[in-house]
Amino acid sequence: MEIHAGNGYLPDQFLQDNSNHRTDEYGGSVENRARFLLEVTQAAIDVWGKERVGVRLSPSSTFNDMHDSNPTATFNYVAQELDRLGIGYLHVVEPRIKGNVTVEDDGKGLGAKFFRPLFGGAIITAGGYTRDTGEEALQNNTADFVAYGRLFVANPDLPKRFALNAELNKYNRNTFYTSGEEGYIDYPSLGDA
Ligand SMILES: Cc1cc2nc3c(=O)[nH]c(=O)nc-3n(C[C@H](O)[C@H](O)[C@H](O)COP(=O)(O)O)c2cc1C
Repeated sequence: MEIHAGNGYLPDQFLQDNSNHRTDEYGGSVENRARFLLEVTQAAIDVWGKERVGVRLSPSSTFNDMHDSNPTATFNYVAQELDRLGIGYLHVVEPRIKGNVTVEDDGKGLGAKFFRPLFGGAIITAGGYTRDTGEEALQNNTADFVAYGRLFVANPDLPKRFALNAELNKYNRNTFYTSGEEGYIDYPSLGDA
């Protein structure tokens, strides 16, 4: 059960101080801004068990106009508290991603690497990975798992293609958010042709 606390979704709006202007115990200090996410996470743990709960964060994404004045302090606290709750995994969207587009990365943002020393559970990294850079992220211990978005949308058999180092279908951005079959279930698997 993944709690989505990135990309400007509700828990993220509590976490980051450009959107959280509350003056009660859910706003102000880092501890207060993280309270909502941590309570939601605890509630999920109470139902499903800590090992079945994960949290997704995008600390450096400006998607949905998100911004924090001190992301290092904010996410340092969040990571340590999630570690304390013992959740199964942390899913981190790398700074080079804004929503579903790859953007300029100045190397100063917070990605999976930042969380490694702070969080003892499994870490998933996401954003702009290819077969080779994903493999590299595993080899250099940036993360335990690599998530793929756009490549998976266009390649229903992505793991198989990676295993075979086969050519990939190219994704069509125009059909990312449509409702019919096109761009959803019609990308061919290997061998379909
Ligand atoms: C069609 C589409 C829909 C997406 N929807 C969401 C979403 O609802 N929530 C979210 O956090 N990310 C969403 N994403 C972003 C992906 O989760 C992922 O972080 C992003 O695409 C970067 O990974 P990639 O480079 O492997 O595609 C979406 C991406 C695509 C292509």
